[in-house]
Amino acid sequence: MRPSSTLLLAFAALAVAQDQVPLLDRIKGFLNQATAAISSAVPAAPSSPVKAASAKVVEQIQHELTLENWKEVLTVDPTASAPTTQDWLVYINGGNTTCFGLCANTTAAWNASLPLLAAQPNAPKFAVVDCDKEQILCNSWSVGPPSVYYFQIPKSLADQSAPAATVRFLPLNRTSTTTETFKKLFVNGEYEKVAPYEGYWHPFDGPIQQYGLAIPLAYVFWGFSKLPSWLPMILISLVSRNFMGRRTQPQPARPAPAQ
Ligand SMILES: *[C@@H]1O[C@H](CO)[C@@H](O)[C@H](O)[C@H]1NC(C)=O
Ligand SMILES: *[C@@H]1O[C@H](CO)[C@@H](O)[C@H](O)[C@H]1NC(C)=O
Ligand SMILES: *[C@@H]1O[C@H](CO)[C@@H](O)[C@H](O)[C@H]1NC(C)=O
Ligand SMILES: *[C@@H]1O[C@H](CO)[C@@H](O)[C@H](O)[C@H]1NC(C)=O
Repeated sequence: MRPSSTLLLAFAALAVAQDQVPLLDRIKGFLNQATAAISSAVPAAPSSPVKAASAKVVEQIQHELTLENWKEVLTVDPTASAPTTQDWLVYINGGNTTCFGLCANTTAAWNASLPLLAAQPNAPKFAVVDCDKEQILCNSWSVGPPSVYYFQIPKSLADQSAPAATVRFLPLNRTSTTTETFKKLFVNGEYEKVAPYEGYWHPFDGPIQQYGLAIPLAYVFWGFSKLPSWLPMILISLVSRNFMGRRTQPQPARPAPAQ
């Protein structure tokens, strides 16, 4: 796709807001098709039976999040009695586009850690986001791979009021993350040393999410990430030339601003 039409799509998406699902779906469909075309070149299935078995475990206990389903997946078991919280451990993965092809070792460590993490008493539930496929979701959370988002989601009380969810964002080191890293963090409880995130991009309670800006902003950032790198230069140069041009015109004297 040409950059101009990509930009147009991104801004069109911005203009029509969230309730115009078909256009968003079309863009998302395009993204998925593009990634499918790329990943059809991926090497075949795991070679050893052990690998195959562990891949099966991983598949069964791990939910795959998308822009459409994450709000439904990341919830509390409806049969659990309030007040209670559900812990969700979300692994943020990426491929050649969002992780520059450097996430494979970290992902292998994550996969290998899952059976161990799942065997604990009160184990969290597990989910994964592929930022290559779900660029809009990752942008709307303002996160990138490889990392882990630890959600503690409270069940709504009888009066429907939901206490705020506690979220902790844990970036992972691409080169040094091993199963030991995940064990320390989530079996030994070291994640609790990380301060809960309470900024604008909080996926549940942040202002950007609450005012419905997360998705439009995600499209803007995604749109900018698709621009060729020379385009912003040209735009900046045009704008500043225009600005400088105007600055050289004589300006009416202005009173000094009140202190
Ligand atoms: C990622 O890039 C590497 C090297 O450029 C290539 O071998 C691999 O097939 C790519 N993977 C995907 C999923 O496109
Ligand atoms: C991790 O497990 C998933 C199955 O959910 C599989 O698709 C993926 O290829 C595995 N990745 C690595 C690096 O083992
Ligand atoms: C992944 O592990 C292999 C083998 O240990 C190593 O050669 C490679 O550099 C690692 N890749 C990254 C991105 O750390
Ligand atoms: C990741 O780990 C490597 C090896 O331990 C270290 O050299 C590097 O500084 C770490 N990177 C970050 C961003 O912490």
